[in-house]
Amino acid sequence: MTEAARVLYGREDVRRRVAELGRTITGDYVGREPVFVTVLKGGAMFLADLMRTVSLPVETHFMAISRYGDAEESLGRVQILLDVDVDLTGRDVILVEDIVDTGLTSRYLLSILRSRGAASVELCTLLDKTVRRIVPLRPRYAGFECPDAFVVGYGLDFQERYRNLPDILHVADQAALRADPDLLQALIASAA
Ligand code: IMP
Ligand code: MG
Repeated sequence: MTEAARVLYGREDVRRRVAELGRTITGDYVGREPVFVTVLKGGAMFLADLMRTVSLPVETHFMAISRYGDAEESLGRVQILLDVDVDLTGRDVILVEDIVDTGLTSRYLLSILRSRGAASVELCTLLDKTVRRIVPLRPRYAGFECPDAFVVGYGLDFQERYRNLPDILHVADQAALRADPDLLQALIASAA
């Protein structure tokens, strides 16, 4: 392993925690048919594992967004590139996110989903970077409390790379990664 990054949550920790979340959601939604709405692309990996641990009838839909610059600059305003194409009226919606950082993006998406007449809208995130939160927002379901660090792997990217790492890595030396975006590539080869 290079010194630029180290494993923060290994694949086995992730698998176990995702299964716990799935069991909790199953218990909370007994008798209902939740609609998972996942934000591409980072949330896709988490959704795929999470939904297989939920033993209820579930629907899954995707949204894709593009940010106007940095989330903090744009106050979380995003352009919707792909939207849910079903009527959410009366449905129990769970927004599935890879990571909640400042909270601006999730707050915006939650407000959109709530405006569509859903019976309930909850947030489920794999990682919760609470120390960076700038809007009051508490996910109903969170996998791990994430330290104030840049992380990659298991869906999370740096310049579109490293989503396919099975573990979640803490990038200790961000400057080194910016200078050489392929720095961690060797980890992918050895992780497979
Ligand atoms: P927020 O609006 O600040 O909460 O932004 C959340 C989005 O920022 C996530 O969906 C990720 O795309 C991105 N993000 C935040 N922190 C990280 C990180 O540590 N690694 C990779 N992407 C991140
Ligand atoms: Mg990203």
